[in-house]
Amino acid sequence: MAGVAQETGTSERFAKQLKAELTSRYREGTQFDVLDIEDYRAEQCLAGEQLVFFLMATYGDGEPTDNAAEFYSWLTKAAQRAEGEEGEKLLEGVSFGVFGLGNKQYEHFCAVGKRVHKALTQLGATPVVRRGDGDDDEDIEADFELWRTDLYASLDKSALVSNQEGRDAATLVLAVDKVASYEESDRCCVHVELDISGTGLSYEAGDHVGIHAQNSAAVVEQMADLLGLPLDTVFRLTVPEGNPGELSTPFAGPTTLRTALAWHADVLSPAHKPALQALAAFGGEGLEAARLRHLVSPAGKEEYQEWVASCNRSLLEVMAAFPSVKPSLGAFFGCIAPRLQVRFYSISSSPLQHPTSIHVTCAVIRETTPTGRLHEGVASRMLQQARVGQELPIFVRRSSFKLPASPATPLIMVGPGTGLAPFRGFLQERAALAAAGTTLGPAHLFFGCRQRACDFIYQDELEHFVRCGALTRLHLAFSRDSAQKDYVQHHLERSAADTWALISQAGGHIYVCGDAKAMARDVHRSLLTIAQQQKQAGSEEDAEQFIKQLADAGRYQRDVW
Ligand code: 2AM
Repeated sequence: MAGVAQETGTSERFAKQLKAELTSRYREGTQFDVLDIEDYRAEQCLAGEQLVFFLMATYGDGEPTDNAAEFYSWLTKAAQRAEGEEGEKLLEGVSFGVFGLGNKQYEHFCAVGKRVHKALTQLGATPVVRRGDGDDDEDIEADFELWRTDLYASLDKSALVSNQEGRDAATLVLAVDKVASYEESDRCCVHVELDISGTGLSYEAGDHVGIHAQNSAAVVEQMADLLGLPLDTVFRLTVPEGNPGELSTPFAGPTTLRTALAWHADVLSPAHKPALQALAAFGGEGLEAARLRHLVSPAGKEEYQEWVASCNRSLLEVMAAFPSVKPSLGAFFGCIAPRLQVRFYSISSSPLQHPTSIHVTCAVIRETTPTGRLHEGVASRMLQQARVGQELPIFVRRSSFKLPASPATPLIMVGPGTGLAPFRGFLQERAALAAAGTTLGPAHLFFGCRQRACDFIYQDELEHFVRCGALTRLHLAFSRDSAQKDYVQHHLERSAADTWALISQAGGHIYVCGDAKAMARDVHRSLLTIAQQQKQAGSEEDAEQFIKQLADAGRYQRDVW
């Protein structure tokens, strides 16, 4: 498998990032390489590739960079020949993805990426993901991120790579319990147990479970109404000849509108402008369509910002506001409604204690958007409302967030809120090992929540872990039980000397799980402060170097979202 980049700094950086992510995500039996396109002997090698990605920059007049010129010329000529001589599909069996790098200020925006995508398709290769067009004028990093999200969603389901133990399997819901509720809102946290016996699935503490989310019946019905078609309409999505690469990958087989809307269409996330632009093409000459066209035009920029973007209006809400605008099913599923993504949760059990079930600890998302709509997370709502005995399709994704090889290695675990999930798995594992007579190293857990009385999840079990020796110390930070915020990092800093000794002298591992934006960032800062202080007069750079080395050695791991 290859990833082929051009000489621009950005494409090289993107290629390396892609390789690192692909490698950690699909570790089993798959090798990824990054190559400079100048060194890539496409004529000899390309037909033999299983999966290949091209990161193609466009310069000036729609030209490739110098180092890609030879490849580009060969590929485009081969594609022309293939078009001429019927059936000359050199690249049949090759799967690929193209991300173009360009700038919208130029007339030939991403021309090279577009041409390469098209040529590969003409030669019989199969795209595993829509073409990505990165705009350096706006936010190319965000474009690349969106493209990768789509790529992984599609690869996760493909047979090209594997990060799964077995494939999707239908599990049965064994239990659903509300384990926390929050004051002044109807947010809550649920604990769900899924029966994996007889499914062929297995897991390790720290792995992730992928859950196929499904829209509620009410949402499905409303959407079908807006599309103006009965729910039992049967259809099949096909990619038109010469698909320019902007269409979502079709889902398998003929399906009913009910199934497609339930499993494939994300209509509750904030609507994206390109989706609304595509929608606007379906309104004919009516007033509503004219208004929608205005909204997505450059002249309507401010109104768009106000009416759609800043109030997170969903696709469903937008379509409900323009009921006469009825897209075809092909357009709706091909380029208007994004695919409903698989949701990943950190598994919160250990197979040593629960060999036939997977536990999930899920914060249920319920919030009122600025438009007054109640926004519910598709997957968390589904989990909260799951009934015992109901079937739920899932798969297991291997993760690198794992206990150290030796149970004697000290652990520092930081996991407030549902960030506790994988640590419950780790501690169940250690409790089972302790019960079997294994000697364990020290383990400290820093857990935080709002109030002891309402969201201290798994309290009894955590206290039991202390009693049985799986946990040396439970550090608790209740942020709303007193006037001053008490957070996990405050406790970490208070026990700096102990933490430092476990890490620097005893070879301990640090794990952080939970919110990436605020918590993990602040905890990271605290670790830097601790390293700096404990090293006594070490510089900031020294501290950073130290933490970086820990991370490189796999001794500082994060599972954050
Ligand atoms: P708060 O909601 O009272 O601010 C789990 O969500 C816990 O993490 C809550 O107690 C929450 O506190 C806390 N939390 C919020 N921001 C945090 C941060 N930056 N660092 C650590 N904990 C944080």
